[in-house]
Amino acid sequence: MKHHNKTIEAMFDPSQFATLGHTLIDLLARHLETNLTGTAKVIHWQDPATQDLNWQAPLPHSASHDLNALLPKLEEILKNNLAIHHPHNMGHQVSTPLPLAALCDLVAALTNQAMAVYEAGPSATMLERQVIRWLCTLIDDQTWAKAGGVLTSGGAQANLTALLVARQVTLSRHASKHNIWKSGIKDTLKLRILASEHAHYSVSRAAGIMGLGTDSVMKVATNQKGQLELSALTHAHQTCLKNEDIVMAVVANAGCTPTGSIDPLLSIGEYCHAHAIWFHVDGAHGASTLLSGAHRDRLKGVSHADSVVWDGHKLMYMPAAISAVLFKDEQHSYAAFNQDASYLFQGESHLDETFNTSYRTLECTKRMMALKLWAAFSVYGIDGMGQLVDEAYAKAKLFAEKIKAQPDFELLMAPETNIVCFRYLEAALAEASLNQHQSKIRQKIVQSGAFHLTQVDLHGITWLRTTLMNPFTTAEDLDQLLMTVAKVSQTIQAN
Ligand SMILES: Cc1ncc(COP(=O)(O)O)c(C=O)c1O
Repeated sequence: MKHHNKTIEAMFDPSQFATLGHTLIDLLARHLETNLTGTAKVIHWQDPATQDLNWQAPLPHSASHDLNALLPKLEEILKNNLAIHHPHNMGHQVSTPLPLAALCDLVAALTNQAMAVYEAGPSATMLERQVIRWLCTLIDDQTWAKAGGVLTSGGAQANLTALLVARQVTLSRHASKHNIWKSGIKDTLKLRILASEHAHYSVSRAAGIMGLGTDSVMKVATNQKGQLELSALTHAHQTCLKNEDIVMAVVANAGCTPTGSIDPLLSIGEYCHAHAIWFHVDGAHGASTLLSGAHRDRLKGVSHADSVVWDGHKLMYMPAAISAVLFKDEQHSYAAFNQDASYLFQGESHLDETFNTSYRTLECTKRMMALKLWAAFSVYGIDGMGQLVDEAYAKAKLFAEKIKAQPDFELLMAPETNIVCFRYLEAALAEASLNQHQSKIRQKIVQSGAFHLTQVDLHGITWLRTTLMNPFTTAEDLDQLLMTVAKVSQTIQAN
């Protein structure tokens, strides 16, 4: 590995890579073990503004050539991370990533398959196609036999991609046949997206990006279980018809962000089908329910969807990011970013671009995302991956039961997936002060490093929110969280 420039030679030295790599893996393995056993804090909270100052350093013009100096710094970085594998990490919908998948990401980084076109990542492209086929099979191997899609960096981008397709397809069926991609937005066409009031913000953001305006998203009411109400959807649709608005998509959740609730996909799907409306299921969080033999029926009707979004970095236990946007008719996947003219309008064939994924994605260069999911499916099988989902859902159910059994706690609803929302009913406080009190409790707990949990406002009430993702969280950890909440509440009251 000779190079005339010694600095460059050292940068690419394979033996140095191996030595550093082994040390790094050992360091990460110790980090993983410490985290899984929960012996350290879940977060070493430090004020971000102070941290920002601590991190500031002059631009390093000259090389230190000291790889060993990196290791202590890395240990510090690891220590100041949110400990994602810690049993008390139960805040965001972020997976406790499988170590195998993390190793695959190292392969993806070193090999850097750009993936824009087939020749920039031949096996990466094939892995992606295989993973997409597997996910479509999980949705339905019969009605989704002609399905297809692409991987994107995150569910937000996947939702945008699906809604771009929904718009193209809807307008191709409309009398005006206006090609918005080519000619831009026409004032006379009022497009609407009907979405659950619990839809992730990426849906209205997509409407903003698409130039429709966030007001084009009509929020459809949900019931006590956080599920979209069919009667409210029907009403919203009728209103659109009366106003001569064009409904370009209905967006339902398979695992909504605030509560993890799953909308009644079957009845919504049938309604959309009967009225020729594009049916999009945002399953970023909960589509992984399909991996579980015990729970997959909860997604009954998902096969009626025209498009489905599914995040790997949530309940498929992948490191971020890996999301899939899937289309029941693979041909539709070509409609999102049609550079020339949509096949829907001009009948062109996209066969030539089948293997060039950037033709169908917002990204040009894209990381080889599929390897980690392909490896996990291959090594652990759907059976193994489903056990992770079963474990998470069982824990959420158990936690909900524990909350219900305590008179000074209120459970928002029985969880449908792995998100549990609750609040502490501090006896000394009036209802009007309870919201702020939950925020204070959460802030104190997170800053103490004892647990990581989140909060959510729903219909004017603030709830503490946990996402039980970590398979190593025990029943005792859950008891401990409830005790900590009660104790912190008392401390706040005492001060
Ligand atoms: C239901 C839902 N959709 C979409 C997203 C956005 O996904 P990502 O964070 O992967 O962009 C989230 C994120 O939490 C989500 O919960």
